[in-house]
Amino acid sequence: MAFDRLQIMYEGEPCYDIVYADSFQALSKELEAFALKQRKVCIVTDSNVNKLYAEEVSGIVSKLSLQCDTFVIEAGEEHKNLASIQDLYRFLIEAHYTRADLLIALGGGVIGDMTGYAAATYLRGIDFIQIPTTLLSQVDSSIGGKTGVDFEQYKNMIGAFYMPKLVYSNISVIKDLDDRQFASGFAEVMKSALIKDFDFYVWIMENMYEIDDRDVETLKEMIYRSDVIKKNVVEKDPKEKGERALLNFGHTLGHAIEKASGFQLLHGECVALGCCAASHISYMHQLLTKEEYLEIRDMFVPFHLPITIDNMDTEEILNNVKNDKKNGNGYLKFILLKKIGKAVIDTSVTEDEMRKAVRELLLLEDEL
Ligand SMILES: NC(=O)c1ccc[n+]([C@@H]2O[C@H](COP(=O)([O-])OP(=O)(O)OC[C@H]3O[C@@H](n4cnc5c(N)ncnc54)[C@H](O)[C@@H]3O)[C@@H](O)[C@H]2O)c1
Ligand SMILES: [Zn+2]
Repeated sequence: MAFDRLQIMYEGEPCYDIVYADSFQALSKELEAFALKQRKVCIVTDSNVNKLYAEEVSGIVSKLSLQCDTFVIEAGEEHKNLASIQDLYRFLIEAHYTRADLLIALGGGVIGDMTGYAAATYLRGIDFIQIPTTLLSQVDSSIGGKTGVDFEQYKNMIGAFYMPKLVYSNISVIKDLDDRQFASGFAEVMKSALIKDFDFYVWIMENMYEIDDRDVETLKEMIYRSDVIKKNVVEKDPKEKGERALLNFGHTLGHAIEKASGFQLLHGECVALGCCAASHISYMHQLLTKEEYLEIRDMFVPFHLPITIDNMDTEEILNNVKNDKKNGNGYLKFILLKKIGKAVIDTSVTEDEMRKAVRELLLLEDEL
C-alpha cells in the first residue's frame, strides 16, 4: 500500500482528499481540478513558514492562477485571534477577493484554524485548501473541519465547522520541525493508536527508531494510519455529539496541566501526561492491568515526551478541569481505555481518582 491519498467523507458524501507527498512537486497537478486560471489565490502563512516554503508554494500557484498573494501573520498561538482575522479580511476586501476566489493555509494548526475560519466567514464562505506543515496539523487539525480562533483567554472559543477542498501534506517538511514540536505532534499519533488501533500501536513500537529519525517513508505510513483513525471517528460523528469525544483521550487532564504550566508545556507534551493519567485511572477502574498501564506510560519516554511533572499544584489542575468549557454541563465525560486500542466514554470518574492520577504524575503516590 502506498499511503498516498485518503478520501474524507462528510454526511455520507465524498468531501475532500488528503494527499501525502514527499515534496511540493505534485501540488500543481492536484490544483488542476480547481480551475485557478479564473481565480485569485491568497496563501495565508505565518512568519516562520513564510521564510521556509512560501516562495516555493507561491511559485507553483502563481503559474496556475489569475493572481497569487501571500498574507503573513506573526507566528504563535498569541496571534490566533480576531485581530489577525480582521487584518486578513481587510486585505481580501482591498484586493477585491470575491466568493469565486480561494485561500490556501500554509502552516501549522494555528494557520489552518484561522484560514479555515476566515474562509468560512468571508462573503459567507469561500473555498480553502490546507497545506499543513507541522506533524500536529498533519495528524490532527487538518481533519474534521474544526476552524476558529481564541478569544481573550478562551481557547478556540469562536469558530465554525468548515471543510477544506483539499489537504496537501508534504511529509518532508516535518524534518524542519524542532524536536519538541515533533514530539508534541507525535503524542496525538500515540493517542489515536491507544484509543482505536492495537495493531498500529504495535507498528509504532516496531518502528520506533525510524520514527525518531524522521524517515520520510515511515512518517508517511504513520501519518496516514493516524489520519485513518481520526477520519473514521469524525465521519461517524462530524459535529461532536458522541463518538468524537474519544479523541479527547488524555485531554481532560492534559488541558488542565497545559493551563497550570502557564502554557510553558506544549499541547502534545500535556496530552502525553494526560494519557498517562487517564491510563492510570483506567487501571484504578480495573479496565487495564497494572502492566498495561505501566507499558503505556513508559512508551512515551523513547519519543521524548514527559511522563512526570514537577512544581505544579494538584488542586489548581483539578480546578482547571472544572472550569474547562468542554466539561461545563454538570458531569465529566472522561475517556478511559478498556484495553490498548479500545477507548470508552466514562462518566463515573471522581475528583479523588483524578487527584490520585495527578499525584502519581508528580511522583507523590507511594505505591500503585
Ligand atoms: N482544528 C482542529 O481540529 C485542531 C486540532 C488540534 C489542534 N488545533 C489547533 O492547532 C494549533 C496548534 O498547531 P501547531 O502545533 O501546528 O502549532 P503552530 O501552527 O503554532 O506551529 C508550531 C510552530 O512551528 C512553526 N512551523 C510550522 N511548520 C514548520 C516547519 N515545517 N518547520 C519548522 N517550523 C514550522 C510555526 O511557525 C510555529 O512557530 C492550536 O491552535 C490548536 O488549537 C486544531
Ligand atoms: Zn490535542
